[in-house]
Amino acid sequence: MADSLYERLGGHSTLFEAMHRLYEKMQKHPKISHYFENMDIESLTRKQVSFMTRAFGGSPPKEARSLKEIHDNLGISNHDFNVLISLMQETLIEMGIEIATQHEVLAIIENARDDIVKN
Ligand code: HEM
Repeated sequence: MADSLYERLGGHSTLFEAMHRLYEKMQKHPKISHYFENMDIESLTRKQVSFMTRAFGGSPPKEARSLKEIHDNLGISNHDFNVLISLMQETLIEMGIEIATQHEVLAIIENARDDIVKN
């Protein structure tokens, strides 16, 4: 069987670095930084790595809450979501991830849009 996207990306260490970089960018971005005020970013990064591991074909434990439940009261707009997508792409480019793999990652994140955006 072909390697999973998780393995092709480089496994836990690459994913952890990507999520760490992504949260740093999100915390600095004027449009979406307010969502992360007073949040424990280290803990959020670990949860996000766990989520992405499963979404990319690895096998971490399952979350207790669904993506929809988690983001329901946050009021995230389509525009906010677009900001996350472009910051994620910027991160993958910086890390030298090849373009076809970038597209696979972004397509999986894009699939979550309807659960996360509220409008
Ligand atoms: C602009 C887009 C997004 C914003 C502003 C955002 C914001 C947040 C915030 C504020 C939390 C903490 C909520 C809490 O602890 O109650 C959170 C948790 C989380 N988010 Fe997002 N999120 C976004 C997109 C995404 C996407 C695209 C995914 C996955 C595909 C995702 C997956 C998660 C996960 C797994 C958690 C951790 C939940 C837990 O187990 O506590 N988020 N997000």
